[in-house]
This record gives sequence, C-alpha cells and structure tokens, in this order.
Amino acid sequence: MKILVTGGAGYIGSHTCVELLNKNYDVVVIDNLSNSSEESLKRVKNITSKSLSFYKADLLDKKEITAVFSDHKIDAVIHFAGLKAVGESVMIPLKYFHNNITGTLNLLEVMNDFNTKNIVFSSSATVYGNPASLPIKEGFPLSATNPYGRTKLMIEEILQDLYRSDKNWNIALLRYFNPVGAHESGKIGEDPFGIPNNLVPYISQVAVGALSQVSIFGNDYDTPDGTGVRDFIHVVDLALGHIKTLPKLFTNPGVMIYNLGTGLGYSVLEMIKGFEAASNKKIPYKITRRRPGDIAACWADPAKAKAELDWEANKTLIDMCKDTWNWQKKNPTGYQKTQ
Ligand code: NAD
Ligand code: UFG
Repeated sequence: MKILVTGGAGYIGSHTCVELLNKNYDVVVIDNLSNSSEESLKRVKNITSKSLSFYKADLLDKKEITAVFSDHKIDAVIHFAGLKAVGESVMIPLKYFHNNITGTLNLLEVMNDFNTKNIVFSSSATVYGNPASLPIKEGFPLSATNPYGRTKLMIEEILQDLYRSDKNWNIALLRYFNPVGAHESGKIGEDPFGIPNNLVPYISQVAVGALSQVSIFGNDYDTPDGTGVRDFIHVVDLALGHIKTLPKLFTNPGVMIYNLGTGLGYSVLEMIKGFEAASNKKIPYKITRRRPGDIAACWADPAKAKAELDWEANKTLIDMCKDTWNWQKKNPTGYQKTQ
C-alpha cells in the first residue's frame, strides 16, 4: 500500500511517516517546506531505517501534484499540508484561504483524475468553536471564529459535497485536539519558526533558556485553577490514530468523522508543573490578559474513535512533557543547528 503524505515534513506529518514506515506502508511525501525542513525527513529515515520518496512540491501548483501521481500509484492520501497559525490567519486571511482551500482543491482534482479516492484530512477541534458543553462529541454544532478555523470547516464541507456527488470517495475527517510531545528518540519534534504561538513549544523554549518566561493568558476563566484547559494529546498517539484509520478507509465507509483526543483536560498551570517535573527546571511565568478568541476549556469525547477504529491515546501528561523536553534539549535550535 502506498500512502501520499502532504505536509509530511511538518510536525504531525513527520511523526505519522515514522508510524507508516513502521507498519510497512510505502510513503511518498509532498511538502513545499514553507513551515518545515527536509532534515525532519532525513531523521524519519534514520529512526525507521527505511526510505521514502520526497517531492519538494507545492499544492498550489497542480502540475507538481500531477507529476507525483504520474510517478506513483497512490492508494490513499493523508492530507496534512496547510497553514495553521490562528493569529496570522486573522492578519492575512487571503493567504490562508488560498493556500489551504486552493491547495486542497488542486489535490482533490488530481486525485480524481487518477481515480485515487481515499483521503484522511487533518481537521481540528477548532471547528467546534466555543462548545456549549464538555466533553465534545462529533455531532456537536460547528462554527469558526477565525479564518484558519474557517478553512478547516470549509474543507470538511467540500469533502462532504464531494462524497455526495460520487460515492466512490472514502473520507476520514480527523479532528485533532492539542498535539504536543515528540518522538521518544528525540530526533523529531515540533520546530516552530520564530516565537511559538502555542503553549507547550513556548514552555519548552523557556526551559531551554531561549525565552525568559511564559505568559499565562488569563487566570480568571471558569476552570478549577482559572487558567485555560485543553485536551493535550501526544503526537505519537495522534500519528497512530491515522494508522488505525487507514484499514477502515479501505472498507469503503464513505465519510467518517472522529475526534482524536485523550478525553482529559489539563490546565495551563498543570502543563507548566508537568514540564518542571519532566525537565527538572524552574519555568518562570507571569499572568497576563486573556488572549482574544481563546475559550476557557476544551476536551474531547474520544469514544467513537475507540469503538470504531480501536484507537485510544495511551501516553500521559508526563510522557508528553518528557518527550518534548528530550527533543528540545537535544535540538535547542530545532532542525537548524543541532548538537
Ligand atoms: P506543520 O506546519 O508542522 O505542517 C504542515 C506542513 O505543510 C508544513 O511542513 C508545510 O511546509 C506544509 N505546507 C503548507 N502549505 C503547503 C503547500 N501549499 N504545499 C505543500 N506543503 C505545504 O503543522 P502540523 O502541526 O504538523 O499540522 C498538520 C496539519 O494538522 C495542518 O493541516 C494543521 O492545520 C492540522 N492541525 C494541527 C494542529 C496543531 O495544533 N498542530 C491542531 C489541529 C489540526
Ligand atoms: N497559552 C498561554 N500562553 C501561551 C500560549 C498559550 O497561556 O504562550 C494558553 C492559551 O490561552 C490556551 C492554552 O494555553 O488556554 C493552549 O493554547 P495553544 O495556543 O497551545 O492552543 P489552542 O488551544 O489555542 O489552539 C491549538 C491550535 C489550533 C487548534 C486547537 C485545537 O493552535 O490551531 O489547538 O486543535 F485549532
């Protein structure tokens, strides 16, 4: 079985490539390296002692996608490629709509041309907006609060329309909660360009001394300690969710939708404490104002994925913090300059 992984050099994509190779899938990667480095794929090969085919190609260029499908008979696509910074998407929405939507349309058109009609799409818990109750089930109402989230919602709808028009498509919409952590080898991990937007990369850069202190965006939420609560999920558990999805995709299920989360909520303060324990470092922090657009709490009901995919997250908060720290201290400046 040959799987095309778009965005495979990125954070979640590279971890998924490892698990695909471990399960003996053939892997082809398309990535334009706009938010990643080819070094991640070298390390994927190193971890697995297996090879994969890499194309530095842009989903905005249909000819480049067509060339990949001409070279390889692809059985299914895992579609990670996209821009993902919420704040940036508010500043430059057209770039987000163009990259994420047009890139996906190009990909789907080429898949259609080559009669490859199996796709796993990286959606997000952001499609639930501010949920009325917790935990979040797949049938909850959907809404978007920023252009990034809107691209996820629009792509979900595009894929559902595609299936309505042609029942030969098989589509998995995987709604990720908050991916954190790194491969236990410490060879691959999250490598954000510039100052991180997300909590855990920020904490780990404070721990390694690259940043001075964490700003906690509000401690007056209606949560047990007043700070925001999220369903943090280890990226390797998340990658394994894709591995469990593929066999089901090949049974012609039509459209499937799953939450990929742990079902547990941890607060910002609990993450800082967990990271202090894992790294044996003090993490200085200050309380600042709420970040506009943030919700108080968000966690998944992952029961559907457990029942239908036989998948559940197994790694703990301490695993997430330990593995993030192992990656960060072995690669203090990410993939660029390593020890
Ligand atoms: P990432 O930025 O590390 O990976 C995305 C990859 O896509 C990058 O390597 C980037 O270079 C590539 N890419 C972007 N536009 C492209 C294009 N036009 N053509 C080819 N390659 C392109 O992000 P990630 O955290 O690994 O996220 C993967 C997917 O999961 C994204 O779609 C993201 O929106 C989604 N997601 C991420 C999170 C999260 O918190 N990390 C949460 C929910 C959903
Ligand atoms: N936070 C801080 N300080 C920081 C960064 C974050 O206090 O420096 C807080 C936030 O206020 C929030 C929590 O930490 O309460 C988590 O914030 P993140 O930015 O790490 O994650 P979000 O839940 O805001 O969003 C992430 C991705 C989205 C995705 C969503 C659900 O960035 O793209 O998870 O999957 F949609």
